[in-house]
Order: sequence, then C-alpha cells, then structure tokens
Amino acid sequence: MKKVFLKTYGCQMNEHDSERMLANLKEIDFISTNIKEEADLVLFNTCAIRDHANAKFYSHIGEIRALKLKRPSTIIAVGGCISQVEGEELLKRYPHIDIAFGPDNLHKITEMVLAVSHQNKKRQKIFDNSFDTSSTYSIKDTKFVHGNPKAYVTIMKGCDNYCSYCIVPYTRGREKSRPMMEVVDDVKRLVEFHGIDEVMLLGQNVNSFGRKENKENKDSSENFVSLLRKLEMISGLKLLRYTSSHPRDVSDELICFHGESKKLADHLHLPVQSGSNVVLEQMNRGYSVEHYLGLLEKLKKANPRLKISSDIIVGYPGESEEEYQKTLNFLQQTQFDFIYSYAFSPRPGTKAFDLPQSKSISREEKSKRLHHLQLQQLSIQEHVRREMIGEVERVLVDGRNKRNDADSLMWRGRASNLRIVHFNPREEDRDFDFKWKWVEVKITSSTALSSKGDFCRVC
Ligand code: SAM
Ligand code: SF4
Ligand code: F3S
Repeated sequence: MKKVFLKTYGCQMNEHDSERMLANLKEIDFISTNIKEEADLVLFNTCAIRDHANAKFYSHIGEIRALKLKRPSTIIAVGGCISQVEGEELLKRYPHIDIAFGPDNLHKITEMVLAVSHQNKKRQKIFDNSFDTSSTYSIKDTKFVHGNPKAYVTIMKGCDNYCSYCIVPYTRGREKSRPMMEVVDDVKRLVEFHGIDEVMLLGQNVNSFGRKENKENKDSSENFVSLLRKLEMISGLKLLRYTSSHPRDVSDELICFHGESKKLADHLHLPVQSGSNVVLEQMNRGYSVEHYLGLLEKLKKANPRLKISSDIIVGYPGESEEEYQKTLNFLQQTQFDFIYSYAFSPRPGTKAFDLPQSKSISREEKSKRLHHLQLQQLSIQEHVRREMIGEVERVLVDGRNKRNDADSLMWRGRASNLRIVHFNPREEDRDFDFKWKWVEVKITSSTALSSKGDFCRVC
C-alpha cells in the first residue's frame, strides 16, 4: 500500500473531484493519510476563485519544499483550477512539483502518478491542462470512497455564463451535460448497491442541464426538470439536492416541481450577487432585482417550507455607497436563510480584472462593507430561524456535536432545509449509535447558526 495526502480547496465540485481522484488512486493501491510527512504522493486540488484561495495554496506549496528535500521520492502533484490557468508557471516557480494538471484531466491521475513513479532518478515533469473538446460528456459511474449515505453526482461541467468577475469559465471550460439516462442509471446504482439515501446534483449552472445538447440534437428534449422527474421515481432515494442554480434560468416548470416533489429538499441555493440592478448588469448576470424577487415569491408559494440561501459580492468595481445600501436593503427584504458573502477579488483574465473603477474602493472599504453586511445577515438569521421552533424536522444525523463542552454528547445532523440541528438522545437511547440514521426532532431553540431540539423517533 502507498499513501496519499490530499488537500482540497474550493467548491463542492472540487470536493467531489477529489473523491473521484481518491477512488481512482485506490485502484492502484493508494490509501489516504493525514500525515504529509509519510505520504508517497502529496496532492493538492486547488481553487482560483478569489485571491485568498490562491494565497492559501501558494503558502502550502512553499512549505512542501522542505518535505521534498527530506524525501525526494515523494511525488508532488497539483490539480484543479489554479493548475489549469497557472500550471506552467507553477512548474517553473516550484521545481519540487512533479505533476500539474487541470480539472478536465483528473481521470488521468493514476496514469500520471505511475509515469512519474517509474522514473525515480531524473523525473520528467508532467503538465496537462488540455480541455476535453469532445462533443459529449460522460462519467460512467460516480465513484466515492466514504462510507456514508450521501453522494455528490456531477450532472454537468464547465460554465458558459462569463459573469464579469468570475474565473470559472476559464478554469472549467465550456458547459457540457451528461446524458440524462446515464445520470439516472448512475443514481439508481448508488441507491440500490451503495446505500445512498441523499444525492446532491452538481454543476456550475444545473438549470441549463441538457440545453446545449438539445440545440445540437433536435430530437432531444432533456432538461433539468425532466431529469429531476426521473430521479424522483427512483425508489429508495430519500432526498435530492442540487447546486448551483442561476436565477436567469429558473423556469416556471422547475418552480412547480418544487411544489410537487416529495424528494426535493426544502432548501435552494440561489446566488444573487448584488441587490443593485446597475451592478447586476455590470456583472453580466442577465436578470434584475425585480426578477429575482418574483422568483422568490413563486418559489415560496410552490413550497412554503422552502428556505433560500444566496451568494453576495460587495465592492464590485465602482459599486457606490448607494448601490451597496441597495444590497443591504435587499437582504432585509429577502430574509435569506444564510448567505456566503465575499469582497470582490480581481481575477486575472476576467472582464472585471482591471477596470479603472476598481481603484475607487479601497481594500479597507471592501472589508468594512463585508463586515457590516455579515453582521446584518446574522441578525436576520437569528430572527428567521426562530420561526423553526415547534416544528418537527427530519434530520440525517452525521455525528456528535463537535463542541467540547457540556453539549458534546449531543448528536447533530442536517434537516431537509440544510439547517444544523442538535438533539440529546433519550435516557434509554444513550448507547444507541445515531450516526447516519434519519430521525425526527422537535425544535426547541434556535440561534443564527444552529438549532436544538427533542428527539422524537428514528424514521
Ligand atoms: N456557479 C455558481 C453561481 O453562479 O452562483 C457559483 C460560482 S462560484 C464557485 C461561487 C461564488 O463565488 C459566486 O457565486 C460568487 O459569489 C463568488 N465569486 C466568484 N468570483 C468572485 C470574485 N472574483 N470575487 C469575489 N467573489 C467571487
Ligand atoms: Fe462563475 Fe457566473 Fe459561471 Fe457561476 S454562472 S460559475 S458565477 S461565470
Ligand atoms: Fe474554485 Fe474552481 Fe470551484 S475556481 S470555486 S474550485 S470551480
């Protein structure tokens, strides 16, 4: 057995890509280790979305140099989004890296590792950031290495939206969807043979699943809702989530399905980015604040239990104080269940990278805006989450409370609406192992970040 130390940065697509690489490496006798000093392969799966993500990786790759000096046989490989756009430069700047490859080449990980490990004396470096240019996109079977009942399933890759601030279209290439029946068969297999209960469908813009393929093949009528309808029918599948969706592409058909479905989660992540129409236009998002609010209204009508979360960027080049205020007001209006919020980070190669207006907002001002917005959102959350008190939630338990205090014996898990729920077992269930069980919990208290409740029953 050989050992791999894997460090993953970035989004769920990257987390899942890492899982797929580990599964492939297992086939050539690699097992995971948390100790990099004992690893035969140190693998970084990188993210380039913001400068902060880049900086984290660059500090780690610097530290690895000492390890390579001590143990020259260790293979150092860098995959993911930084490698796609900066891979050649990486190999020049950091001679201790053996392999650099982009996300479209992760399935070649075993080939690349084997090629390098056969040349222990003077290694040829491997660099592959080619994009897969075939017209179809197929992943026969979703692979994973964990033993729990949740699985990510990629349904499409790439992104064609070119939001002005975003590097993803350059790191992940053109949008392509898997054939619908391939995904359906894949999920059936996961449920029937691998004990999977909950599936998270992945793509940068899942709402446009199959759209490009439909244009090219007039006989095809596959779209995201037809995929969801087919998945809904898989017996044994308990919960279905998806991410990310683009507000421009949320169809009325999809909204209706949120009302009809028995398996779609009571949660939807719908990134809005800004509450100002001027900024949305500059970001090339293709919708207005009014359109977004209309979607929220229809979605809540279709499924009143639905909780919505979002992404916000503050300090986009030229964002005035007034435009920023519009985003704050918008958050008050929407009462999101939670948000991921970021200060705009200029990404080389994107349209917004070198805009002259970017100098108009200092780094300190961006941080100030972000901090204030986050405080406001926390108080919104504290309020909206109190409404959960008294409700009975179905929760998939993922372990014990991580805190090291009197509450540490509590179990925790996620409700269908994605909120974290803690509960104490009854006296007679103290020794029962709740991990990966579905339970019902009656919520008794709630903070901005989590809730507590009384255990009702295993379901
Ligand atoms: N495809 C998804 C979408 O359109 O919402 C997710 C894209 S990205 C992986 C996740 C989030 O990162 C975006 O929604 C955006 O808020 C943020 N983001 C992307 N580029 C950024 C940048 N240059 N600066 C700050 N935040 C950024
Ligand atoms: Fe980036 Fe926009 Fe594509 Fe999302 S939709 S990945 S923000 S370009
Ligand atoms: Fe980062 Fe690439 Fe995901 S840039 S957010 S790892 S698509």
